[in-house]
Amino acid sequence: MKKISFIVYTFIIYPLFVFSFAQQQYDAKIDELLSKMTLDEKIGQLVQIVGVDKDEENLIREGKVGSILIGIRGAKESNRIQKIAVEETRLGIPLLFANDIIHGYNTIFPIPLAEASSWNPTLVRKACEIAAFEAASAGTHWTYAPMVDIARDPRWGRIMEGAGEDPYLGSVMAAARVKGFQGDDLKDKTKIAACAKHYVAYGGAEGGRDYNTVDISDRTLRSVYLPPFYAAVKSGAASIMSAFNDLNGIPASANYYTLTQILRNEWEWDGVVISDYNSIGELVNHRFAKDKKEAALKSFTAGVDIDMVGDTIDGNVYSPNLKNLVEEGLITEEQINKSVRNVLRMKFKLGLFENPYIDTEYFKKNVPSQKYKDSVALQLARESIVLLKNENNLLPLKKEIKSIAVIGPLADSPNDMLGSWSAAGKPEDAVTVVEGIRNLLGEKIKVNYAKGCGINDSDTSGFEEAVKIVKQSDAVVFVAGESREMIGEAASKTNLNLPGVQEKLIKKIYEVCYAAHSTNQAFSQSAIPLVVVLMNGRPLTINWISENIPAIVEAWYLGNQAGNAVAQVLFGEFNPSGKLPVTFPRSTGQIPIYYYQKSTGRPAVDDEKYTSRYIDSPSTPLYPFGFGLSYTTFNYSDIRVDKPNISANDSLYVFVDVANMGNVDGEEVVQLYVQDEFASVTLPVKELKGFQKIKLKAGEKRTVSFRITSDMLSFLNAELKKVVEPGRFYVMIGGNSADLISTSFEVIQ
Ligand code: BGC
Repeated sequence: MKKISFIVYTFIIYPLFVFSFAQQQYDAKIDELLSKMTLDEKIGQLVQIVGVDKDEENLIREGKVGSILIGIRGAKESNRIQKIAVEETRLGIPLLFANDIIHGYNTIFPIPLAEASSWNPTLVRKACEIAAFEAASAGTHWTYAPMVDIARDPRWGRIMEGAGEDPYLGSVMAAARVKGFQGDDLKDKTKIAACAKHYVAYGGAEGGRDYNTVDISDRTLRSVYLPPFYAAVKSGAASIMSAFNDLNGIPASANYYTLTQILRNEWEWDGVVISDYNSIGELVNHRFAKDKKEAALKSFTAGVDIDMVGDTIDGNVYSPNLKNLVEEGLITEEQINKSVRNVLRMKFKLGLFENPYIDTEYFKKNVPSQKYKDSVALQLARESIVLLKNENNLLPLKKEIKSIAVIGPLADSPNDMLGSWSAAGKPEDAVTVVEGIRNLLGEKIKVNYAKGCGINDSDTSGFEEAVKIVKQSDAVVFVAGESREMIGEAASKTNLNLPGVQEKLIKKIYEVCYAAHSTNQAFSQSAIPLVVVLMNGRPLTINWISENIPAIVEAWYLGNQAGNAVAQVLFGEFNPSGKLPVTFPRSTGQIPIYYYQKSTGRPAVDDEKYTSRYIDSPSTPLYPFGFGLSYTTFNYSDIRVDKPNISANDSLYVFVDVANMGNVDGEEVVQLYVQDEFASVTLPVKELKGFQKIKLKAGEKRTVSFRITSDMLSFLNAELKKVVEPGRFYVMIGGNSADLISTSFEVIQ
């Protein structure tokens, strides 16, 4: 009993006490500061500027700036600017310096979509810790990450910035990233504040067109798009960014329902809401506000605390308008105080009042070794790789081969390895596939490299050279894909085929590799093995490659260690274990296609008319969500539950035996999906509710268990109330969303 009281006190009561004491401490300090601030100074805290020139330095001196989108300037420069705020303003309130640290600061990790393919939140958290350290040491307090938008449309270029299509995987990754950036205490000098973005449903843009309209039901909003934000908030995210898009008729940056009712009233969150870049000013373009003044009124009263780009020609929304709005009685000073409180609280939490400057000595002394940073970057890059196809075990390539042709516009392009948003990352620190193979095999192998063609042009003059080196080599690796500029913000596409003449060249090389082997050509003795490695930030439509090329490796943009990771996978130093966080369509016409579909009244049967299918395409995707191969195979058997039925608020265990059937060790992501057989509203055919990444030695078999809680069985009923309804539930487990074994149990009243 004593022990329990000790535990309760130590782990629950004491932390709560310390927490509320800290909160109260902040409240008192904030009140004191507020009582001294003029209205102009208060509004200044709600204004963010981009970069700093001489005029803006004066604005800082006048107390008219609260934060800066600082860019890559380094500690010295941020300390210089901070000094203006701390020493030359009336109240000495420190500035917040923000940046987009999306997948690394100096050390560039895989893009977030790739990281999600690792299904390894622990490793993702470590990467964010390193990013936070590096960014903090260079003068950043605040990152505009994680991007937690669910994205089910690969035409949308920003799909690369998030964790893909699924709300559960998205929530796990959101929590890992927030924890990685922020740790448990923002006062820690090596941590930075996170910002979950873009609130909300930005990824649901019509037709995948960036910045476009989103019109979704409240059910979809709450079941699909909000959960990762909720996970971020529950992990302590210090801030949230309101999105550019219109959401059900009300722009997300002026949406009282999402910004105040849900975020503040339902979730009881007291962080900072910042607009996206001029998203308040753009209310005029939405034709939702007649001018910037009305835009300021609408965003502010809906719940946006800070106006990003608040004092530039483009933005210019809060800074010139909030004061007038107060004076005209359209908003109250108390409302302003509330937002200022949020901003000041964040500054207190970050410890900026005690330590406004970057302590460069501290960072120098405590810097993690390059070796450690490289090892995390390499491990995450390796785990992010998804093996899409490996016919007749063509991979791994034998280390004994004497020569290899490495071809393609992405085979030796360090800049592209960094992907979109690369902060202070440098191309010269990024390893390409050509370099990676040399690093791995050195003199033992002759690497014949030819670019062959550009990423996105029609020039075929390099084909000849490529074909020539293929003929001189024992194996061929073609590195194909998109350039880093073809993904990310404002990079929506209608055509997801490989750009330019890349596929044409792949076809030519395929003919050379397998010439004169009409039957079972790919595996004839005299054929030259051909592997396609893809580098891209979105699913591409690769039907021909998928049908014809025997081995395909999805490498995304893997950051600094890209080439080393790819080489290690190609030659079997590392057994791939990544799984797709997003469905690969066969064609753009299939989009949106995702595993979390409804049954419909006429479930698709491909050769049956009057079912929910296409007449010119199979209804299945090219590669399903959760899919990814290994150099071994895993067998799932004997799925069972520990109880045949439970009551609605009870839980049960499901067990499954997973066996490594091959002769190499491997890792498998064991995925758990649930289906509620019949419900009072229509629900998806299956929903991911858990996963475990396990290592199995060659031949090893293990029982994996999951606890099924009532939360996992719940859904929003017609009144949007979270309920668990009695009836049968199917539990499905397997290595991808389309290949599962199942059992069931009943929830009884
Ligand atoms: C993007 C945000 C980003 C901001 C600041 C905007 O265009 O949508 O994601 O954080 O710019 O760079």
